[in-house]
Amino acid sequence: MKKILVVGSINMDCVIRLPRRPRPGETVFCSTVSHVPGGKGANQAYALGRMGTGVSLIGAVGQDEFGRISLANLRAAGVDTTGVRVSADEDTGRAFIEVEDDGQNSIIVLGGANTHVTEQDLLAHEALFDRCEALIMQLETPLDTVTAAARLARRKGKLVLLDPAPARPDLPAELLQCVDLLKPNETELEIVSGLPADTREQCIAAARSLLDRGVGQVLVTLGARGSLLVTRDGELFVPARKVKAVDTTAAGDCFNAAFACRLERCTDASGEPAGSLAGANYREALEFATAAAAIAVTRPGAQSSIPSRDEVERSLAAPAGAD
Ligand code: RIB
Repeated sequence: MKKILVVGSINMDCVIRLPRRPRPGETVFCSTVSHVPGGKGANQAYALGRMGTGVSLIGAVGQDEFGRISLANLRAAGVDTTGVRVSADEDTGRAFIEVEDDGQNSIIVLGGANTHVTEQDLLAHEALFDRCEALIMQLETPLDTVTAAARLARRKGKLVLLDPAPARPDLPAELLQCVDLLKPNETELEIVSGLPADTREQCIAAARSLLDRGVGQVLVTLGARGSLLVTRDGELFVPARKVKAVDTTAAGDCFNAAFACRLERCTDASGEPAGSLAGANYREALEFATAAAAIAVTRPGAQSSIPSRDEVERSLAAPAGAD
């Protein structure tokens, strides 16, 4: 596949590093504060660009410095940003991210221009849907827009991948029925399915409930344990690589993009038409995505942490434990 379309959010991340998050009513010192381009949609588009895949992004930023920096960073990675509207009425989206010393984070998002991405934005760039072979989305843009994009892509025979983050329990049946591949983490899986996902068996049952609701396949990321693909034919588990995490921000975005860019190669190789996952080499795609995310967690920030395709391939070729 030559081209992936991302419909999604663009944020400027304000990253606060601190030993531990304060309890209610407590004041703590942080060690650094920095601004890094982020946003789940932009991170996934950026990662696809870094992996050498042709990628376009539909979204919106404000007419402000954060918007300018975000767009420049995306273009530097090769992302086509002609589908990004610069709004005079809304500020660029922002995320406030606390990263603790063990690399775990918590994120608060101010949607800004992302919350005003509409079906009109999609239709204004319908040619990007025609040209792509897969659509990737997340849930930081309005649900109506995400559903409209999935419907449009499905009508045009494109593959639809959805990262249901931030998760919500009310995903419409029409959206789920358009999704070829859903990629939640365990928490998101619980929220989207309404079922517990603490054990592997529970994850499989929750994922299968989504297959019953019309999703094509479910890929569950399990953090430091690995990832689990659940299809109608069975399950495939790939363990994570052991690395020392510095910052897990955007590791899921990097995983998603790396998996998608590898899938397209597999789909090409199988000779299957775009819009089908039949014949894809899931294990190879999962191992590539696992290696990409393992690199991302060792680096600070969102887009600043995402490796190039060469880096991922070198890491895969290195002896085990050399990460
Ligand atoms: O997935 C990580 C991203 O979530 C951050 O870059 C932040 O902007 C939020 O959207």
